[in-house]
Amino acid sequence: MIETEPVSAVQDAGTNQVEVIAFCCNFCAYAAADLAGARRMQYPANVRIVHVPCTGKVEVQQILAAFERGIDGILLAGCLEGGCHFVEGNLRAKRRVEAAKQVLDEIGLGRDRLRMVNLSASEAPTFVARIQEMVETVNALGPNPLRLPGDKERAK
Ligand code: FES
Repeated sequence: MIETEPVSAVQDAGTNQVEVIAFCCNFCAYAAADLAGARRMQYPANVRIVHVPCTGKVEVQQILAAFERGIDGILLAGCLEGGCHFVEGNLRAKRRVEAAKQVLDEIGLGRDRLRMVNLSASEAPTFVARIQEMVETVNALGPNPLRLPGDKERAK
């Protein structure tokens, strides 16, 4: 992981009912998030951007650990298929996301709390739209039932 601070995107208050992590690859999704910030586009403030070199660096264990700690939803945002700067990192991530979704189904959390999207660096509006869709989905699902009192603070 490179850093966990939000990019310079201007975020509105949004709804703070749930917390979502967006793992953004350096070359496309993070650049799109940065562009959204430069354009002063807004997306919900309850999304935490985690800057990763490539979505292929995100392991199933990391995803499940975040859910165990009480995060409500996770989005992996990477390069377009065929456009990963680590050749097939995003394809590896796609397989890992599917594996994690199966676990989420098995433990009753549900696969809809996890999603992967692919976009190019120039797609700031797409980035914002995918973030908003994810937050809406997770808001509809409600808080992570695994979260215990205090878990949200420990996850930070
Ligand atoms: Fe973007 Fe691999 S470098 S997903």
